[in-house]
Amino acid sequence: MNDDFDPSETSPVAVTFQSGDEKNENILRPQYLEDFQGQKQLKENLSVFIKAARDRHEALDHTFLIGPPGLGKTTLASIIANEMHSELRMTSAPALEKPKDLAGILTNVTENSIFFIDEIHRLKPALEEMLYIAMEDFEIDWVIGQGPSARTMRIPLPRFTLIGATTKAGAVSTPLSERFGITGHLEYYDADELKKIILRSAGILECDITDDGASLLARCSRGTPRIANRLLKRLRDFADVLKDGKIDTDIVKFGLEKLAIDSNGLEKQDRAILRTIIEYYNGGPVGADTLSISVGEAVETLEDFYEPYLIQQGYLMRTPRGRMVTRKAYDLLGITYTGSEANADQGLLF
Ligand SMILES: Nc1ncnc2c1ncn2[C@@H]1O[C@H](COP(=O)(O)OP(=O)(O)O)[C@@H](O)[C@H]1O
Ligand SMILES: [Mg+2]
Repeated sequence: MNDDFDPSETSPVAVTFQSGDEKNENILRPQYLEDFQGQKQLKENLSVFIKAARDRHEALDHTFLIGPPGLGKTTLASIIANEMHSELRMTSAPALEKPKDLAGILTNVTENSIFFIDEIHRLKPALEEMLYIAMEDFEIDWVIGQGPSARTMRIPLPRFTLIGATTKAGAVSTPLSERFGITGHLEYYDADELKKIILRSAGILECDITDDGASLLARCSRGTPRIANRLLKRLRDFADVLKDGKIDTDIVKFGLEKLAIDSNGLEKQDRAILRTIIEYYNGGPVGADTLSISVGEAVETLEDFYEPYLIQQGYLMRTPRGRMVTRKAYDLLGITYTGSEANADQGLLF
């Protein structure tokens, strides 16, 4: 960690992360736990841990949020900050290039504040090491100078809470993941929960949606609040332009068909992935790299976004030899099932 970072400099390094997409999501983002739907167990536990920390005037323990994109990790981080009445600083691992980027933030966090790192699995090893020392000992070691004259400066840090979010828990090193005192796995939402989210969002966006329309949309939203909100906005466009502005089941059906989303909530690309495995690889197994080239999708997107839902819905299996589709995928696409169940079982064994 030899760099031109000067810890005595007090100007905060402003590394904030917000994509345009997320910015637009802000008005729909719940601010407090009571507005956060679903994830019942996680929410209950968090509310206890937050209350306990607040009553003791302590920082909340470091918190690790794991789950596919769009399920509410960033939202929960800002809710935790609101509930703790704490300052929140947000960044994402790819924005932290050098040790001094991380050191600059760490030496400027305030007592009991929240520091959120998105996509924490993408943190560089040198930064990861600095981070887990900071998490455990609330200090960083900084090397000043080079060669024989180099010396290490120990910089104490205030007690803070790190919230790390990832879509890939397996890619986070053990020393780092072990230093989180609280771990929350976010699961896909069921249709009832998504319906509540849709009705709440419709209220905020002041758009008119029927109860049946909201139910149908909820079932086609891939278990994901971000998708539910995005589809709601598009359906509002269809309703405004083509009808009287009211989103009813006809508009939902019409809009979803135009957007190539089927009644199972699968998108065109979901079906293309399943079809490719069946038509090119005889149902699998096929490796993720090969598959990603075949369907023209980055491996990361394939693994983090598409596959988890297809697996959860029982269309796809991850086996040590590669990805395999299930019989359900053949049925979905109307292709006669040619593999044998024994074949599929073998895939799981090796
Ligand atoms: N439990 C929830 N209740 C209501 N809305 C939610 C919930 N989880 C997520 N959302 C909505 O979905 C959007 C995406 O959530 P976000 O926290 O950005 O997901 P992630 O960080 O996991 O990718 C948010 O802007 C918010 O409007
Ligand atoms: Mg996020």
